[in-house]
Amino acid sequence: MSKLPASVAAPAQADELTNSALAGLRRTPKQLSPVWFYDELGSTLFDSICELPEYYVTRTEMQIMQDHSAEMAQALGPRVALIEYGSGSSLKTRLLLDKLQDLASYVPIDISRDYLLEAAGSLARDYPALQIIPVVADFTQPFDLPTQIAAAQRRVVYFPGSTLGNFERPQAVRVLGGMRTIIGRRGAVLIGIDLKKDPRVLERAYDDAAGITARFNLNALRHMNRELGADFDLTAFEHRALWVEEQNRIEMHLVSKRDQIVHLGDEEVAIGRNEHLRTECCHKYTLEGFADLAAEADLAVVRVWTDAERQFSVQLLEPRGIQ
Ligand code: AVI
Repeated sequence: MSKLPASVAAPAQADELTNSALAGLRRTPKQLSPVWFYDELGSTLFDSICELPEYYVTRTEMQIMQDHSAEMAQALGPRVALIEYGSGSSLKTRLLLDKLQDLASYVPIDISRDYLLEAAGSLARDYPALQIIPVVADFTQPFDLPTQIAAAQRRVVYFPGSTLGNFERPQAVRVLGGMRTIIGRRGAVLIGIDLKKDPRVLERAYDDAAGITARFNLNALRHMNRELGADFDLTAFEHRALWVEEQNRIEMHLVSKRDQIVHLGDEEVAIGRNEHLRTECCHKYTLEGFADLAAEADLAVVRVWTDAERQFSVQLLEPRGIQ
């Protein structure tokens, strides 16, 4: 699993989080940050989403890794320091760890300390000889890498799950730019990127028949109620997933079923009947479109692995100009 950094509302941060939530609710259309999906329940719901028949993303990426991880490992070369953005517990990572030759170290990065240590502990049990150096950090912000990885031949950032697609273009370029800085001139990025496809397939993937994604979306409100003392009525909103062609993205919305007032911090937020709160954007790329995005961060696509139906891709990027 790889997802956006979860929010941790320590008391000192609560005001800041409230202010940023209010800023989103003052925009048109109203917006909530997707970090609100991920509390304990949200993470469990996300795990269930990954197993849904309609949600092809996880299954397809896993298949690509199963079919091609040996080639990927060969393309990355020996004595790699593998730096993973997001969770380090996933089966996809293990497929890569199994194939990388003479791996120097594995550096999982996650904002959630407990989750990170649990995942690192479980990997340490299965890979006793591997140097695992967990780093608690928000990968959307600059962070320092542990000095122990200096001996590696090559730094490789691994970012599976197509989580980059959850960032709007300027932030996606910043996140890729952060990776470019970390890997230096001789490093590489291995990244999962979801591809543009029939909008009906996409809308089903984000609005499943069992209603799990709807619960996941509504959980953002439950999480805000608990952490920020808001009073969203979960029964007064409806889940919606919309394909927006001009932006090449699925948008997840919560649509208000009636006129209502929500209290957050010291403010009252008026939400009209049928008004939409946008909770997440999931960008889908063409191969050319993603290559253009990577180029903005000084990265070139050097290799692309896809499934037979070209639903999903795992792409190898290197700094531009060294090919
Ligand atoms: C975490 N991320 C890659 C998921 C996606 O597909 O954009 C989040 C998600 N939202 C609804 N379903 C899954």
